[in-house]
Amino acid sequence: MTAPQAGRAPAIGKVIAVASGKGGVGKSTVALNLAVALAQAGARVGLLDADLYGPSVPLMTGLRDARLRASAGGRIQPLTAHGLRIVSVGFMVGEGDALIWRGAVLHKVIHDFVHDVDWGPLDFLVADLPPGTGDVPLSLHQALPLHGALLVTTPQAVARADAARAAAMLRELDIPILGCVENMSIAVCPHCEGEVPLFPDTARDPGEPFGAPLLGRIPFDPRIAACGDSGSPLVAAHADSSAATVFREIARGLTQGDATGYQPRPVTTKEVM
Ligand SMILES: Nc1ncnc2c1ncn2[C@@H]1O[C@H](COP(=O)(O)OP(=O)(O)O)[C@@H](O)[C@H]1O
Ligand SMILES: [Mg+2]
Repeated sequence: MTAPQAGRAPAIGKVIAVASGKGGVGKSTVALNLAVALAQAGARVGLLDADLYGPSVPLMTGLRDARLRASAGGRIQPLTAHGLRIVSVGFMVGEGDALIWRGAVLHKVIHDFVHDVDWGPLDFLVADLPPGTGDVPLSLHQALPLHGALLVTTPQAVARADAARAAAMLRELDIPILGCVENMSIAVCPHCEGEVPLFPDTARDPGEPFGAPLLGRIPFDPRIAACGDSGSPLVAAHADSSAATVFREIARGLTQGDATGYQPRPVTTKEVM
């Protein structure tokens, strides 16, 4: 692969990409709630919506009508919400606009979103990747080498197959797989509070085929979708839910043994769904 582009590197500690291969498994949900969980633990966090084809971050952060502005020096000012600095192509186009990118333009947009944004010093930049195994991770990795990627999957053979393709692509690009997250693993019955498996494959460890640790199993919780639609991340809106606890565990799993010395504050929660 091509060497990262020269120039002054932005003051960003670690870029962590959230990938899956498959769409609709919860990448954007995980990216946003992970970013907020890291910020709640005291880190300085940016959220880069690198899904140039279907940016979900404006809606999920409550910033759907917001627009990016340039500073006097011509640099892009990230928007701020939920303790995060946020950039998305959705802040530049209308919600229903078609997004068609030629390779060179896509590459430049990703490069500018890393280098021409006033991110300020960040401990983490969480990047929400598009589905598929395309140009975006490559462009991002060339703009600023990724610390690694988090693979999101659901307990279904189709999602696992797409995750395997995403893992192969990451390996090809020399991007370490930091861990796996299984989303929608179980649902909790609102009547008897028993655990209901939603998909057939829940017994398997989704990280095992890639040699990546399983950092968390997120339950299906209708409040996650409601929070996504209303622009208020679950980890903040329902901090006591078991799903929020899992998001914090994922954040802890990612930062444990951090070479930068950054340590998240211990979190105690009442585990109520
Ligand atoms: N654990 C969950 N429980 C309930 N709804 C979820 C859960 N995870 C994701 N969703 C919902 O599923 C939809 C797809 O999730 P999203 O994060 O946009 O997926 P992706 O980015 O992979 O396409 C969204 O409406 C989201 O709110
Ligand atoms: Mg998404």
